[in-house]
Amino acid sequence: MSNFNKGEAIDLHRRQEKVLVLDFGGPDLQILARKIRELGVYSEIIPYNTSLEEIKRQNPRGLVLASVSADEGVNSAVRDEVRSKLRTIGVPLYVLREDAEKEMSALKDFLFQDCRCSKEWSMQYFIQEQVKTIREKVGDKRVLCALSGGVDSSVAAVLVHRAIGEQLTCVFVDHGFMRKGEPEQVRATFKEQFQMNLVFVDARERFLQKVAGVTDPEQKRKIIGTEFIRVFEDEAAKLGKIDFLVQGTIYPDIVESQTASGKIIKSHHNVGGLPEDLEFQLIEPLWQLFKNEVREVGRELGLAEEIVGRQPFPGPGLAVRIIGEITAEKLDILREADAIVMEEIRNAGLYESTWQSFAVLPSIKSVGMQGEERTYAYPIILRVVNSIDAMTAEWVRLPYDLLDQISSRIVREVPKVNRVVYDITSKPPGTIEWE
Ligand code: XMP
Repeated sequence: MSNFNKGEAIDLHRRQEKVLVLDFGGPDLQILARKIRELGVYSEIIPYNTSLEEIKRQNPRGLVLASVSADEGVNSAVRDEVRSKLRTIGVPLYVLREDAEKEMSALKDFLFQDCRCSKEWSMQYFIQEQVKTIREKVGDKRVLCALSGGVDSSVAAVLVHRAIGEQLTCVFVDHGFMRKGEPEQVRATFKEQFQMNLVFVDARERFLQKVAGVTDPEQKRKIIGTEFIRVFEDEAAKLGKIDFLVQGTIYPDIVESQTASGKIIKSHHNVGGLPEDLEFQLIEPLWQLFKNEVREVGRELGLAEEIVGRQPFPGPGLAVRIIGEITAEKLDILREADAIVMEEIRNAGLYESTWQSFAVLPSIKSVGMQGEERTYAYPIILRVVNSIDAMTAEWVRLPYDLLDQISSRIVREVPKVNRVVYDITSKPPGTIEWE
């Protein structure tokens, strides 16, 4: 479970109208919760066996009983039993019969007539409430944020900055595995556009030395994760007394780490994640938000589309897209090839509509021809997939002309590459990344 501050949650229960969605293990739960929010009512998902006391403490306007799933050992009889118990607390109840899509008009009536909700939930409202909450919590103390350049940490940083300005310091560690132009973009955005206190750490040499000779994927991740923490701690120590640390936890991280019966199934540790024994109190200003809401908050706060619309990118970055040993030369090759992929996918208008699109560099060489010369050089693997949640993914049927354009540009413009192949494997059995 996330570490979001209980005091903060209690405070929000008092001020914020909400509807609780009870999870009976059925499908499309997050979609249901999102639909309710899109209607202007804040919703949260809770396990079906949450105690009546806890539900009362949360002071909901209404309760929605979602669909059941036999997989979780829950049947309609269990739901009926829960329903009778819930009747005693006198909050309006809605029992989902089909899927949310088919019941939209009934759901609307429930929210706005039975529960008398007021449509207060919007991203402007969220920002306004969070700014208050963050100010109350932080007082005149100082706050630290590890900025990765990804959507969540960027939006979290800008939101906290909106609340407490100069009291926030951001640390960006350039581990050398970023995409082309990303470190510069971080500097331009946070230092120049937002005028934040940004500590920019060029740790490229340090990371490259640590991963030299390492070929095992998990070993790579571990080394990079550990080194990241070391660099971050070194920088934090230089900054003097700081009480709070910003984390970019979002709502799916919380929901996906619990089951219908409230069991915690996995804890979330992104690479770039920090250890729990750091002596900071956590601020997780985005814990209530779905990804689309995080992006909208980012836009509201003035972050460029290039940042808020970013595709997912692994914490260890290009390091897990070089299969085998990482060298400075391979990093340069991959960074250039990847930039061409990005550019072409954007130009084709496919950046927003694909989940991830990127290049991979395997440590093999093959024979090719350039003019009269025989070449012996690297191939680039192109990977473009669609997905809803990264749990499964489908390779994208890119137009042949686009494939041709990407391939021609890469072999022409990137030295030491003589071949491009397209990965036509879905997940499962493949994974999205190659390592
Ligand atoms: P796979 O390759 O398992 O990836 O299908 C699923 C999603 O997770 C991302 N990914 C990572 N993200 N650190 C991260 O922060 C990692 O080590 C990592 N490995 C994979 C991947 O890009 C995809 O979105």
